[in-house]
Amino acid sequence: MSKKYLTKATDLAKYIIDKKLKEGMIAVDATVGNGNDTLELAKRIGTSGKVFGFDIQKLAIENTKDLLVKNNMEDRVQLICDSHENLLQYIDQKIDIAIFNLGYLPKGDHSIITKPESTIKGMECILDNLNEKGILIVVVYYGHVGGQEEKEEVEKYLETLNQKRFTVLKMDFINQKNNPPFVLCIEKDNF
Ligand SMILES: C[S@@+](CC[C@H](N)C(=O)[O-])C[C@H]1O[C@@H](n2cnc3c(N)ncnc32)[C@H](O)[C@@H]1O
Repeated sequence: MSKKYLTKATDLAKYIIDKKLKEGMIAVDATVGNGNDTLELAKRIGTSGKVFGFDIQKLAIENTKDLLVKNNMEDRVQLICDSHENLLQYIDQKIDIAIFNLGYLPKGDHSIITKPESTIKGMECILDNLNEKGILIVVVYYGHVGGQEEKEEVEKYLETLNQKRFTVLKMDFINQKNNPPFVLCIEKDNF
């Protein structure tokens, strides 16, 4: 974390991860990309926890694996080259925290982007399988072609969640130019 609190969306996500995650917990990185979030999750869940990481691109899985190996964290992470909409085929535990980073792979092929339908299906799978007080974080990048549509669809979906069941928070930088990414954070409440 850099010296200011409100620097950028990824720092806000890291802050939430830091507050929530404890040793032994189950975490999901639904879009591993270059592995930065996967590493943050892996560092905090210890050897008794587990991180499931998904991406549809082999390159992203390889980049993430390299980063984990460099940091000696590969033992607690299962990387899966498949769409996050299929995540329940691989996970049969309740989930404590999950993160989606929408958009394209930085330094990769910018035409391969997250899409509203699979993103929302993946989010539904997570929300159905979150532990009580579990958290879903969505970092929304939307400056690219297709990004605005996904942002709108995702927000529309989250607005429909029953407020007795879920608290949905949006953290946005409303005085910044060029569509800065923002954070959506959903907590599953006791029911
Ligand atoms: C913004 S990047 C993720 C950045 C990553 N969190 C990091 O720290 O580097 C978005 C990633 O989502 C992946 N992606 C796109 N559609 C997907 C899907 N349906 N399931 C899983 N991953 C997907 C892309 O391949 C890309 O690597």
